Amino acid sequence: MRGARILSTGRALPRRVVPNSDLASVMDTTDEWIVQRTGIRERRFVEPGVGSAELGVLASASAIEKAGLSPADIDFIIFATLSPDHICPGNGVIVQEKLGMRNVGALDVRNQCSGFIYGLSVAEAYVKAGIHDRVLVVGAEVQSTGLDMTTRGRDVSVIFADGAGAAVVGPCEPGRGILSCHLHSEGKYKKELMVDAPSSLDPHRVTHEMVDSGRHFPYMNGRYVFTHAVRRFPEVIREALDANGFTLEDLTLLVPHQANLRITQAVGSALGLPPEKVFSNVERYGNTTAASIPIALDECVELGRLREGDLVCLAAFGSSFTWASALLRW
Ligand code: UT7
Repeated sequence: MRGARILSTGRALPRRVVPNSDLASVMDTTDEWIVQRTGIRERRFVEPGVGSAELGVLASASAIEKAGLSPADIDFIIFATLSPDHICPGNGVIVQEKLGMRNVGALDVRNQCSGFIYGLSVAEAYVKAGIHDRVLVVGAEVQSTGLDMTTRGRDVSVIFADGAGAAVVGPCEPGRGILSCHLHSEGKYKKELMVDAPSSLDPHRVTHEMVDSGRHFPYMNGRYVFTHAVRRFPEVIREALDANGFTLEDLTLLVPHQANLRITQAVGSALGLPPEKVFSNVERYGNTTAASIPIALDECVELGRLREGDLVCLAAFGSSFTWASALLRW
């Protein structure tokens, strides 16, 4: 069987930079609290009228161009987001239309922070099986339009942010590229991090009560999520290394989902990895959920942090709970 590798990456960040001081002007929080508890100093928010599909289209166009391809070369689209433009249809078809692609399949992935790795695993399988040659994997979010920007929502709203990243996956020789992906879920924790409404469980789907009580805003049991994250990240990273017969010493770079700098640091020290082997950009972009890993990958490429032959591990943990890793020979 042939291998599958990331041929190129792209990213799209809104131009509007929102420093912590902007949030402190609308809710009871401080720059000091946010930096100390999350490491975040600023994030990007879209201008009104820009949705996650548009950011995804921009990131995709960049990734496709960097691969030396045109949109017509893409055989399949995978779009991961928790903040689609619409409940229905999904964002994948919007990328197909906006980039003028052929009438290829467009799959929408809803695994929140793990969404990009879940999507990558599908691309890996299609390419390795010889079903598709060029698969586009997108992670994009517009969270800013769905956050409670009052003191009631401060624990969640200071973290989440907008952005998009994309990768084109194509064939390579066996033993290179995506070596394996490892996906997990534990749905009994769904209430610890969720957006409860609108809901098909409700006879009216959307009600004034939902909006008045803030059930359409994300709820997160932060400490609880934190505790699980710092356990599951190391576990799933070790799983990826073990599955391929590598040890932590073999790892060149860990690119984790950018949830919170404290989580990233705790994971790095639990694994005994020196800080230079753990990538972080949460300081500048906040937590962009499904977009954080492809944005980070694109920055790593640009910064020369990823060189041919490097052993790279991607890892994520988030809502539901779901968690995942991917081991790559770059
Ligand atoms: O993307 C993947 C899923 N998400 C995550 O992985 C996030 C996981 N969780 C976290 O990152 C952290 O739990 C948070 C950053 C959300 C919160 O940090 P924490 O250190 O766990 O704080 P806490 O929730 O325990 O709250 C500590 C205090 C509380 O006050 P009291 O009860 O001690 O008086 C909160 O009310 O900080 C208060 N607080 C704030 N204060 C100022 C909560 N949010 C804020 C805020 N500004 N924005």
